[in-house]
Order: sequence, then C-alpha cells, then structure tokens
Amino acid sequence: MIIGSWIRSARRALLAAATAVACVGLALAAAPASHAATQGPCDIYQSGGTPCVAAHSTTRALYGTYNGPLYQVRRASDNTTKDIGLLSAGGYVNAAAQDSFCSGTTCVITVIYDQSGRGNNLTQAPAGGAAGGPDNLANATAAPTTINGHKAYGVFVAPGTGYRNDHTSGIATGDAAQGMYAVLDGTHYNGGCCFDYGNAETSNNDTGNGHMEAIYFGNIKVWGYGSGNGPWIMADLENGLFSGVNQHLNSGDPTINYRYTTAMVKGGPNQWAIRGGNAQSGGVSTFYSGVRPNVSGYNPMHKEGAIILGIGGDNSKGSAGTFYEGVMTSGYPSDATENSVQANITAAGYANSSGSGSTGLTPGSRISLQATTSCCTSDYIQHDASDDNVVIAGVTSSSSATDKADATWVVQPGLSNSSCVSFQAANATGSYLRHYNFQLHLQPNDGTSQFAQDATFCTQPGNNGQGLSLQSVNYTDKYIRHYNFTVYLASDGGSNAFDSATSWSDDTSWVAAGPWS
Ligand code: AHR
Ligand code: AHR
Repeated sequence: MIIGSWIRSARRALLAAATAVACVGLALAAAPASHAATQGPCDIYQSGGTPCVAAHSTTRALYGTYNGPLYQVRRASDNTTKDIGLLSAGGYVNAAAQDSFCSGTTCVITVIYDQSGRGNNLTQAPAGGAAGGPDNLANATAAPTTINGHKAYGVFVAPGTGYRNDHTSGIATGDAAQGMYAVLDGTHYNGGCCFDYGNAETSNNDTGNGHMEAIYFGNIKVWGYGSGNGPWIMADLENGLFSGVNQHLNSGDPTINYRYTTAMVKGGPNQWAIRGGNAQSGGVSTFYSGVRPNVSGYNPMHKEGAIILGIGGDNSKGSAGTFYEGVMTSGYPSDATENSVQANITAAGYANSSGSGSTGLTPGSRISLQATTSCCTSDYIQHDASDDNVVIAGVTSSSSATDKADATWVVQPGLSNSSCVSFQAANATGSYLRHYNFQLHLQPNDGTSQFAQDATFCTQPGNNGQGLSLQSVNYTDKYIRHYNFTVYLASDGGSNAFDSATSWSDDTSWVAAGPWS
C-alpha cells in the first residue's frame, strides 16, 4: 500500500511539475439574501403571554429585532476570543466571522449569549456532585449546518462537554410554570446521562426529586423510555427521565430521530407535557400531556432555576448531542403558541445541504473529487489498483483509462441514510468508499449496517469555503481528508497525526468536478 501511494505521489509530483492544470473551481451559487425575520420564536411566546426568559442559539436571532452577539469562540493559537453575531438584525449568524477567526487553528464555544436581555448566558459548566469539572467546551466547527442557505454551526456536545448558568434571572423556581423548546440533531445522541437543556439545580448537585425540569434527548433507559429503540424526548425531573405519567415505559412517547428535531417540554402545577416534531417541516405532536408522574417527589415541583446544556443536574456528563437553538419561558405556553413557534422553526430553513443547493450531489451522477489545498489542486480522490487504499493523485487528459476510472465515482443515495451519499467506484460495481480505523478504503459492500454507516457521508459546504466537505454519518465530527496524499476520516485537531489542525479545512474541502471517466 505504501508503494502504491508512493508511486502515485511521485507521479503526481511529476505531473504537477510538467503540466499546468487549471484549477476547476466549482462556483458556489450565491446564498439567498439574509432577510430580517419579521418575528422570532420569542416574539411568538411574548404575544402568547409566556415570554422568553432565556433564548440561546448559535444559528439565528430568536427575536425579530435582536442584533447582538449569538455566541463567543476562543481560538487555540493565542487564546483570544471573538463574539459571533448576525448578518442582519433578526437574521442569521455570520459564520464567516468564525471561519476567518479560527482559520488555521481550532476554536471552542466559550459563551452562548442569552438574547432575552436577562443575561442568562451559558458558559463552561463547573464541577458537580456526579463529575468533576470544569466541563469541556464544544468544538466550534464540529456541528456544521445551513440555515436558509447560510452556513452556521451548532453546539456539538461530545461526552464531557457542558454549559451552565447557576445565577439566572427570571427562570421558573418552585412549582412555577415554564415552557422550553430546543432544536437538536436527532441523529446525534447516546445512552449516557444526560443530554439536557433546561432548568436544574443552582448547586450542581442532585438535591432531590423535582429539583429539575429540563428537556432530555437520547436513548438511556435507566429511568424512563418510550416506544421503539429511541432516541426519545423526555423530561429530566431529577432522579428520573420521564416519558409520561409512569416511571418507566410510556409507549405514547415515540422514537424520534429527525436530522433536525424540535423537542418541547413544559410544566406547571400538577401539569406537564412533552411535544416534538420535525424541525424542517410539519407540526409538533403531543407525546404526553397530563398530571405529574405517579412517583413521589414531583408534585409540587421544586425547580431551582439554573440552566444546563449537555449535562445532567448533578453535572453527569456522559451524554452526547447537538444543540442549535432553544428557549425557556415564564408561564405555561399554550399548544397554539408552541405550534406557531414550530412554524417559525420550519420556516427558518435548517438543512444539511445534502441533495440541495450548491453542495448537493445528485444520486446517479458521476463525479471526480478534486482536492482544494494549494499543494494539490490537480489531484483527485482515487483508489489504488494494487490494494484497497484510497489516495489523492494527479489525473490529466493524458492519464490512462484505468487511472481516470480509478478517480471516478458514481454518487449513490447514502447506504445508511438516503439524505446523504455513498460513492461507488466507477470501475468496481458494488464497491464503495468506506472508512475503517479512520482510513478510507474501497471495499465491496458486505451488506452489514456497519459497512453502510462507514460508507455514508453527508455533504456540507466546504470547510474552507470552496466546494463541499464530506462528513461521516457515524462520526459526525470527522470528515474525508487527505494527509500525505492518503485519504482518511479526520477530526479538526484530533489525536491522530492525520487530524492535524494545519490545513484541516483545506484538506477536507473538495470540488465535485466533472467525471474523468
Ligand atoms: O434525572 C436524571 C439525572 O439523575 C439527573 O440529570 C442527574 O442530576 C441525576 O444523576
Ligand atoms: O473507521 C472507524 C471505524 O473503524 C469504523 O466505523 C469501523 O468499521 C472500524 O472499526
């Protein structure tokens, strides 16, 4: 394998020296203009008489007139910070500001600002009764998305990551009523405790049943669960994740895993509800609405009014998830108010960009994938003839038919998720690009779900602003990347040599060029 890639590298170098190949840049279609929203979710809650008392988002304004910062990032190169704001008042995030500030280094999200004016910002969570701290901060580029065609980043919670505010203003305490929603990545979750957003203890300790009321998302079954295998939206009420009135199974709470999922939990005196839906279209359904659980300690409630994101009330931090936006209200929002909020969310236009827009790859089409790093713009992803490794190497019109075919891919609907893609070799029907041990290989589809996941990639706008990037469906912080002319699945600044932050965004960005064969 080393020889194969060495030969290709050497040939690549010769070709590069001998031939000036025009860089075939894929013109990015202009993103839609950034329209100021006439109203945001918090304007809707306000009109319904249940105003937001906390409003967090890394993707957009949650009030029609909000024009402040959404979040703050800190870069590793010099530990300086920068606030990331909006393209226009009431509009969408200016993610390009983050991209330029974090270029050539890595960034973490240090603050998620509260847009409600109450100063309920989320920052690095401190140690708690269940786990030490401070918790990790989210990698600022690990959860890319688009919203109304604009690039944006969510808050990627890997286990160990957590945000908190123990000194809040206006958040419900005791048995007072509140509402909450969050827009989450329904495909990113785990069975650790507890990917939460909402109301928790101000002491970072488990102070007993009823001392929390937060949205939970994931598939832990230690406490409650719903129908199917999960993940489920549940309410974390402390010492219990509740899917309904019963302590364990409530089959009315379905498995829900839309790529963009709206999760809602609200609670007041002996009354609470779980609702949810697809954040890209349609309404929200009610999965439970009724009295408090039939377990002692939850009626009345003893809410304390801290806010958590990504962790449990006692700082349990084994959980994973991705958060894009969410709010907490004062008062019990009506279903009608929440339905209008859901309409606002679906209109905001969250999209994974696969299959649409400038980075969409059309199943059935043939393409070649051209590197964008300045070293290598005449190189294309291709499989070796002698082994199953995958490399980048130069291809020109005078290359052999075999080399051209080795660098040509037939786009297929993603083997594990049809809204993403898989790449079948043009000259090896049934063989696909897949990662194994985080290196890319060309292998025949063995029909397993492991293979399907390892061979499925979701297109994102190019991490360096050119072309597209190909995000692994089962390791969502990792992308197809070339490193020393070999092709890997790499995270930005991770633990392998090929995860190097240097050139990461260039090495993970590809032009979908016309097929060589
Ligand atoms: O209620 C579930 C979890 O139990 C809470 O989040 C945590 O505080 C406790 O460990
Ligand atoms: O490439 C990472 C993992 O390595 C793959 O998911 C799995 O097939 C192998 O264990």
